[in-house]
Amino acid sequence: MSKDIESHLVESRSFPPNEEFSSNARISSLEQYEEMYKESIESPETFWAKEANDLNWQSDWERVLEWKAPNAKWFVGAKVNIAENCLDRHLTSDRKDKNAIIWEGELGDKRTLTYGELHTEVCKFSNVLLSEGVSVGDRVLLYMPMIPEAVVAMLACARIGAVHSVVFGGFSVDSIVDRLSDCEAKYVVTADGGYRRGKAIALKSNVDQALEKYSGVEKSFVVKRTGAEVPMLTGRDVWWHEVMDEASSSHVAEGFDSEHPLFILYTSGSTGKPKGILHTTGGYMVGTYATCKYVFDMNDDDVYWCTADVGWITGHSYITYGPLLNGVTQVMYEGAPNYPDFSRFWQMVEEYKVSIFYTAPTAIRAFIKAGNDLVTKHDLSSLRLLGTVGEPINPEAWMWYHEVIGGGRCPIVDTWWQTETGAHMVTPIPGAISTKPGTATRPFFGVDAAILDEDGNECPPNAGGKLVIRKPWPSMLRGIYGDEKRFLETYWSDYEGIYCVGDGARKDEDGNIWIVGRLDDVLNVSGHRLGTAEIESALVSHDAVAEAAVVGKPHEIKGQAVVAFVILKGDNNKGDTLVQDLKKHVTSVIGALARPDDLYLVLALPKTRSGKIMRRLLKELVATGEITGNITTLEDPNVINVLKAQVSC
Ligand code: WT7
Repeated sequence: MSKDIESHLVESRSFPPNEEFSSNARISSLEQYEEMYKESIESPETFWAKEANDLNWQSDWERVLEWKAPNAKWFVGAKVNIAENCLDRHLTSDRKDKNAIIWEGELGDKRTLTYGELHTEVCKFSNVLLSEGVSVGDRVLLYMPMIPEAVVAMLACARIGAVHSVVFGGFSVDSIVDRLSDCEAKYVVTADGGYRRGKAIALKSNVDQALEKYSGVEKSFVVKRTGAEVPMLTGRDVWWHEVMDEASSSHVAEGFDSEHPLFILYTSGSTGKPKGILHTTGGYMVGTYATCKYVFDMNDDDVYWCTADVGWITGHSYITYGPLLNGVTQVMYEGAPNYPDFSRFWQMVEEYKVSIFYTAPTAIRAFIKAGNDLVTKHDLSSLRLLGTVGEPINPEAWMWYHEVIGGGRCPIVDTWWQTETGAHMVTPIPGAISTKPGTATRPFFGVDAAILDEDGNECPPNAGGKLVIRKPWPSMLRGIYGDEKRFLETYWSDYEGIYCVGDGARKDEDGNIWIVGRLDDVLNVSGHRLGTAEIESALVSHDAVAEAAVVGKPHEIKGQAVVAFVILKGDNNKGDTLVQDLKKHVTSVIGALARPDDLYLVLALPKTRSGKIMRRLLKELVATGEITGNITTLEDPNVINVLKAQVSC
């Protein structure tokens, strides 16, 4: 495979850390980074114990690390409560009355919660969960809009030792059903709806439909957000505000084992079924805490804003946990970046004096397209640090972010990581490492990143290979929920005892890591992973469809767009609306994120003699209109000519 990994991007622009930034930063020189990095690799236990000691542990660990690949245990034997660390820990200082969350609804409504107030809400909801019978280890599925209650619900689960599984509010009924049944959830937290692009999006009705198919849910807690009329099933559905009104606000956080499961978050893989990535408590806490501290260089006077949704790992690590562990003030926003127009984010940065801003390349591309006027009419001088995540950032988008948003003065941290890694893995340390547009630069502390060839040898500078992590790190996944075999096959089967990331990459002569993209059949649409097999299965579940192949096509804003090739069942006539119907079908099975931009009804697909669909040929075809790749394994070369005539690119 590695011989197919090519990297053609040549980038010579380099931006040394801004001097003013460096002089105030925790890590202020390359030497300091290198020294700390060396210690973190040579003595990881000493390094991580020091970080962990910034936080509260109800009882000490016996050992920092127990590692028997692929299973890691961190802070073995310690008892800890992550919600206590996010909240109670701050109540004895000035932080008690400091804003934890400044929230803005899409329609412009505002709410603030101090650390003290957030603590009260979390204690109350913890008591609600307990009084409704939620026990330690029970799974609670969250299907929420971006409102403070989403954070409250996550922290309350964590506080009582229940395991949350957040499902992004854009996912469909069937996606909820799959996740509910995979993790055997007994409880749901949702809302009557949420606002997105000026419209109230119904959430509870999706949950209700899901609960018709999955009967294991005992209680469903419903936040009133939009005021939409929703049916409440007696005995099962309860209004959040009603139970919260009666709940006590006193709750003592019990310590749980450091390896106690914290959450399950589903992410796409190369086969149809999403993987339930399992994270545990102590290591994840230390990892998200330390990355916020060093990568975002968070300080008490910062106002931080991460524009992700809590339904993704970014929202878990860099909205709910990391920032609160650091006691920072954060902005949380309910809606779309372009509501009422593309100046929304910049107006909010100005109003709340945001100093650290974290978003995705797909959003940056959309802003570029919308025009600079929407940005420049706002005062963005409060910004001191910018971040990106989700996919490789195109150098031109990086330059725009640097100049137009950052006014040329803000370092950009291009953070490479994954749902599985829990926290940043390859990223600039902003006061120490020179950045270059398009590279996530150097490994974070304790991250032993390397690029290997097929035989497990390290690739020479600039040669493409597979990105791997050779040592355990605290916030690493502890497995795929209920599927150890898949865990071993997906991450640990290429090289003995080494975590295989699934991305291709190269390292340049300065040690900067350049991510080339995914190696498996996984698309990256707007910074989110979508399995091609998942979308294919959705298409094939339609009555009219016999077979489907899905590939990604370069897209200006989304990074990749979904393109589907569909073979119909013999007796189907191609009604005018069928293409639209099939696209809609994908939306209803998975969610709008997976909806194909283009969908071709075809008579045959390019296959190998053993019957495997050759997606790389389709991928080339939709990108360039041509096929130059090797077709010697193709069963029927004629198929290509037929497809070429059909495809527009
Ligand atoms: C995959 C992980 C991590 C939160 C968002 C996505 C790609 C992520 C970068 C980056 C290049 C990136 C990788 C990775 N990716 N960040 N800064 N540069 N690629 O989480 O859904 O688990 O996806 O996103 O391909 O493996 P995820």
